[in-house]
Amino acid sequence: MPSDPGQPRAPALVVLHGPNLDRLGSREPEIYGTLRLSEVDAAIEAEARALGISVTCRQSNHEGQLIEWVHEADDHADGLVVNPAGYTHTSVALADALAALRIPAVEVHLSNLYARNSMRHTSLTGAHCAGVVMGLGLDGYLLAIRYLSRRLAAEAP
Ligand code: DQA
Repeated sequence: MPSDPGQPRAPALVVLHGPNLDRLGSREPEIYGTLRLSEVDAAIEAEARALGISVTCRQSNHEGQLIEWVHEADDHADGLVVNPAGYTHTSVALADALAALRIPAVEVHLSNLYARNSMRHTSLTGAHCAGVVMGLGLDGYLLAIRYLSRRLAAEAP
């Protein structure tokens, strides 16, 4: 996001959750845990408040919608956290959107992809992010926003 030197403002992050993450809580709890998405988002928002940054959390089951939100984040936010869910392994289009980002992004997965079937060992999207956090559940999102908050503070003019 272009900065206005006369008007300092809190860094703004966007957190995007991909398909089926709206089913957290009831979806395969032995893999994804029992927290609902609303509880995950509430914890992310509390962490952001503690860090003095703003955050907007969004979820979609639609590839095109996620791509639109990546574009929007690039134009209006300072950093992106994305759990592309199943699109991690399939979406060249979402990977292309991340590759074009001018803001830093972190990919998060609740589960450890390397401990799961081999289809999940390939991420098309992860190479276009500053880093990937996986297997740590909710903590992965919190670590990602802490990283972005510190990085943006360090890069601030
Ligand atoms: C996931 C892992 C993906 O392989 C899966 O398709 C998901 C969730 C995770 O957070 O662990 O939907 O991204």
